[in-house]
Amino acid sequence: MNKTQWLDEALWQRLNAPTSEGSTLPNAAYIDPEFFQEEREWVFKKNWVFAEFAHKLAETGTVHPVQVAGQSLLLTKDTDGIIRAFHNVCIHRGAALIKESKTNCRNIVCPNHSWSYSLKGKLLARPHFFGGDQHDTQPTDCVSSNLVEVHCDTWHDWIFVNLDGQAGAFSSHIAPIVEKLEGYDLESLHLGGSLNFDIQANWKLAIENFIEPYHVFSCHPWLHSFVTMAERDPPTFEDHILSCGYTFKETDPTRGEGLPYFPNLPDHKKNRGEWYVLFPNFAFEIFPDQLVVFIPTPIDAGVSKETISLYFVGDGAHSEQYHHARNAVIKNWHDLNLEDIGILERMQEGRLSDGFDGGVLSPYWDPVQQHFARLIYQAMVPTSSMGG
Ligand SMILES: [Fe+2]
Repeated sequence: MNKTQWLDEALWQRLNAPTSEGSTLPNAAYIDPEFFQEEREWVFKKNWVFAEFAHKLAETGTVHPVQVAGQSLLLTKDTDGIIRAFHNVCIHRGAALIKESKTNCRNIVCPNHSWSYSLKGKLLARPHFFGGDQHDTQPTDCVSSNLVEVHCDTWHDWIFVNLDGQAGAFSSHIAPIVEKLEGYDLESLHLGGSLNFDIQANWKLAIENFIEPYHVFSCHPWLHSFVTMAERDPPTFEDHILSCGYTFKETDPTRGEGLPYFPNLPDHKKNRGEWYVLFPNFAFEIFPDQLVVFIPTPIDAGVSKETISLYFVGDGAHSEQYHHARNAVIKNWHDLNLEDIGILERMQEGRLSDGFDGGVLSPYWDPVQQHFARLIYQAMVPTSSMGG
């Protein structure tokens, strides 16, 4: 089935209708393997997408393989400290260059015929290239003889790539988020823990749920006692950024009492919790004392991996005195996410039902769900961007 048969004009109208009359994406977007492939091509290859954590390449001389949108990539950190991304494939016979992360590398050597490349991707040498003992030690320096580079940029601990190279400057892509985070000194953050989950649900359900406060009273009633539904802001959206948040009266022990706050944090941020999604799948929440990154990685139409990385301010990330507070936050996320996964897997099940194909939405909480659906639609049917 061609994607335009799922993403037709009637759907575009529903995604742009008043929310009480609209819907989200049809079931195919969550269960169909062909839709999944199209989404890789049109959403994940054409956008800036998260690739890896920069702390995995802390040392100069690290080479590190990652998978992004079904593509095997190779990340390197050369002596200039810049992290670069390449397709993880030798230009000669197409062997995958790196299968596992390595440190202290001065170059990359293909195991097939020992062609070697610098960490900047330049072809260095080809043993026996012109015959026995006839080595090519000074290959012509041209684009076609080097590794195929992928647009790559790093923002704090997060490495992003743009596979098709057409998404524009990363600085422009991230600018709206940087602006919203003014007042938070992200340089003061350090990784304090991480969690990994395998889920039997489409990655979009995880993002939709992340940005949706509506389910909290029902799925996480213990959180509802901390901030009531009436105190939660409805989600908002602007282009490729989704957000929501609340102002809390007292700190929540499950989010780590006593942890150090961001230095020089403006007063109006000292009792705020804010959630952001950078389309398509980089999500995080920020509190006065922590930032938690949530990334659902698509594996298959109905299968995803989730990574949750918890960053704390200054000593909060490693000092013994904050050990219990940190553990409380990690446990909170673990328990919370298991509750969410239960719901995500139910919603995935629901997407197999003939009795559902996009939903009946709350006009107060769910406009963001339509917007997220529009972002998917617009990415996959680019000519729709002027519609609605
Ligand atoms: Fe939740």
